[in-house]
Amino acid sequence: MDSIRIEGGARLEGSVRISGAKNAALPILCTALLADGEHSFRNVPELRDIRTMAQMLRHLGLDVDVQESTVAVRGRPVAEPVAPYEHVKKMRASVLVLGPLVARYGRASVSLPGGCAIGARPIDQHLKGLQAMGADIEIKHGYVDVSVPKGRLLGAEIHFDLTTVTGTENLMSAAVLAKGRTILTNAAREPEVEELARVLNKMGANVRGAGTDVIVIEGVDSLHPVDHAVIPDRIEAGTYLAAAAATRGDVRLEGVSFDYLEAVAAKFRAAGVHVEREGDGIRAGCDRSPRPTDVTTAPYPAFPTDMQAQFMALMCLAEGQCRITETIFENRFMHVPELNRMGANIQVNGRTATIQGVRKLQGAQVMATDLRASASLVIAGLVASGTTELRRVYHLDRGYERIEKKLSGLGATVERIPGDA
Ligand code: EPU
Repeated sequence: MDSIRIEGGARLEGSVRISGAKNAALPILCTALLADGEHSFRNVPELRDIRTMAQMLRHLGLDVDVQESTVAVRGRPVAEPVAPYEHVKKMRASVLVLGPLVARYGRASVSLPGGCAIGARPIDQHLKGLQAMGADIEIKHGYVDVSVPKGRLLGAEIHFDLTTVTGTENLMSAAVLAKGRTILTNAAREPEVEELARVLNKMGANVRGAGTDVIVIEGVDSLHPVDHAVIPDRIEAGTYLAAAAATRGDVRLEGVSFDYLEAVAAKFRAAGVHVEREGDGIRAGCDRSPRPTDVTTAPYPAFPTDMQAQFMALMCLAEGQCRITETIFENRFMHVPELNRMGANIQVNGRTATIQGVRKLQGAQVMATDLRASASLVIAGLVASGTTELRRVYHLDRGYERIEKKLSGLGATVERIPGDA
């Protein structure tokens, strides 16, 4: 298995292009299940999770051709709408095929994703919504079997008991081909949800209100394929912002909209980091120790859980004490013991981590059990004295395109060590 070796101490400088958003691209690729013909998706990040989704779609019978950041998908009727365990276990976002399959074929069987390192992550809200739209749901042998006795889903009013991103996306994708009007309330407002609505509307759907917590979908009889370029990845951008700040660097993030990063930028500013809109990008830099800044994660537009670990890496070096509270996932502090091994001073009590800033971190051999935790260890490695070796890089490869090359381009000393070296 590959590892990443970082020699800490370099100040990050220069510009870095932000890739397409992983969490927008995943549901967008699934829209190809909704219409036959040639779909073309551009600005798709070259990531392990995208390759996993491509395999899932191929398994369902679609032709998927990935050429760098362009993914061409030929949609065609699916003979067996089944998402097997072998695919879903690799990536729980595979559950995003459920909505489109049920919408189009009136039935689907999808392996239940189960929990993962960061939490139990049930899909009860996805299923509750499909049930309200007239589907029968049965859990059998680890699979959720969904069938629609009437053949076609019926529009319904569905209130989410909690905010769920993929739940909102699944039900929106299901409702576009339902008969009648669906109203989703307490819907997730994430930019990735809004982006999915944009693609569905380009395909001929009628979705209004995405980006707010009430989404209204008028079902249509059929959809057509589209050509679409995916929005940039706000979490990748935020991660480079944290790396720039931690190394007291000066970095320009190219091609990313500031609008999606308001809450993140506000917290970085409170910490003494300069973050400015610059043309079609963002300029970020820092010339001082960060100020301790409390953060509580919450659904968009608040501070995202997907930036919590990276912000914590920055706060490890703050001049004083702060608290970071995680409200979305019950087990998303796995980076804490590893950061402490690098000399950080963090104590976790329930959902809150108390961070007492230290003057220095030291390089160490570390590993992480999820994507964003891995990113926080990379940031810690960039500022630590000496060498940091990050193991289990496959987590990082799920969500960061060519991270070692992008960081090297900014002046860091980072290399990938192949597994058999
Ligand atoms: N939840 C339920 N029932 C449901 C659905 C969710 O209890 O039916 C709970 C979850 O267990 C969690 C909370 O609701 O505690 C929020 O989960 P959500 O469904 O919003 O998460 P998700 O849709 O599975 C997406 C992103 C995650 C990101 C979260 C929160 C994708 C593919 N994944 O997950 O991204 O952390 O929203 O913003 O969009 C990442 O990129 O590193 C990542 C984990």
